Amino acid sequence: MTNVNSGKLSSARFAQATNAFVEVFTASVDFDRRMAHQDIQGSIAHAAMLCKIGVLTEKERDGIISGLTQIGEEISRGEFVWSIKQEDVHMNIEARLTDLIGIAGKKLHTGRSRNDQVATDIRLYLRSEIKNITDQLTRLQTALLDLAEQHADTIMPGFTHLQVAQPITFGHHLMAWFEMLSRDQERLQECCKRINIMPLGAAALAGTSYPIDRLMTAGLLGFSRPAANSLDAVSDRDFAIEFCAAGSLIMMHLSRFSEELILWSSAQFDFIDIPDAFCTGSSIMPQKKNPDVPELVRGKSGRVTGHLISLLMLMKSQPLAYNKDNQEDKEPLFDTADTLIHCLHAYADMVPHISPKKENMYNSAKRGFATATDLADYLVRKGMAFRDAHEVVGLAVRLGIESSRDLSEISLPELQQFSPLITQDVFDVLTLEGSVASRKHIGGTAPDTVKNAILTARQNLQAIQRH
Ligand code: ARG
Repeated sequence: MTNVNSGKLSSARFAQATNAFVEVFTASVDFDRRMAHQDIQGSIAHAAMLCKIGVLTEKERDGIISGLTQIGEEISRGEFVWSIKQEDVHMNIEARLTDLIGIAGKKLHTGRSRNDQVATDIRLYLRSEIKNITDQLTRLQTALLDLAEQHADTIMPGFTHLQVAQPITFGHHLMAWFEMLSRDQERLQECCKRINIMPLGAAALAGTSYPIDRLMTAGLLGFSRPAANSLDAVSDRDFAIEFCAAGSLIMMHLSRFSEELILWSSAQFDFIDIPDAFCTGSSIMPQKKNPDVPELVRGKSGRVTGHLISLLMLMKSQPLAYNKDNQEDKEPLFDTADTLIHCLHAYADMVPHISPKKENMYNSAKRGFATATDLADYLVRKGMAFRDAHEVVGLAVRLGIESSRDLSEISLPELQQFSPLITQDVFDVLTLEGSVASRKHIGGTAPDTVKNAILTARQNLQAIQRH
């Protein structure tokens, strides 16, 4: 019998050549070549193991390893010729290996399948991307800590409903961002534990009849253990979905952060200055300086959440074990990792250069009756029930609005009209400084508390870096 398509995968079984469009349609090499180095790393470990169990001779193993090493170099130098005919990264590398070293190259695929191979590659790839993401996240967190330290006692209004609520410190606000990113760090590390499990050895779906040593390959590749079930190992992509979920939360946080930076840098708020290096102008309006970086990051959060949903949809109806659907997992994953790294990088570069306009922040807190709650608390300390105090302060605020004065600018006799409990010491709590300083419990906005929080946060961050 003649072989109609000698370039084709499993060609002998086919009586017809692949439709030219289908060949392109089903190929993944254009994107999965991104995992080439992980593919080579996995193959080297596999070859070493095959030799140990006697499937390859030492000579064959060494030939495979040096061939694969050379291929890795060709790829790094951009000299490797990728071919759609070879469908994906795995087949391209294997074909080149056989070109280079002959028959031994054809033995590499013994006892494995592209199904366990691709799942292994993705896990190795994500493991190293998580390291890159974590590095950028740590840079951003360090930048936030440094900025918060400089502004532990810079007063600004805190908002609820985007209305001035109570005075806070800018340092405290920045530390809120820090806390969110700390949970993001934890989520990535948690997710990495489940990523770091080795599918290799599951072969197509049922394992292999060779006496493979999966503990050896897991050890060589730095996996914590081999996957416990071969069907599960080749089919599920929950680890990738989890990665996208952790990524979506990071992007959601960055997007909220962006939203505030955009508002704060507007002429209406005028709380901060974003340096020119992170902004661009308008092609028509010469006066404009647009907060491009935060806007773009806010915009990019949508695509990462979209990738999370894509992967969930990709997975939800697949019967066990491997299905070609899974080839669709890579582009969303790669783009998620890229987007995260780029956005975190831009933010880590930008945050150290954000400068608050202290006077504007201060005046804005003053204009918004931000110490109204402090006045109510003062009355409660003098014996009034909180609900009654709320009422009294409401009247004082109304007078302030009508006469365009902050509470601290209303005279003592005027305040005493609302309650005889008010005495001269009320002005200690009506100032913004007094208000923030009084919130000195754990998690509060008092400058000293914020400084302590920064200290603890720095230690925790250093512990992550050592990890
Ligand atoms: N390119 C494939 C993927 O990304 C590799 C595995 C192919 N396996 C198969 N049985 N067709 O999932």
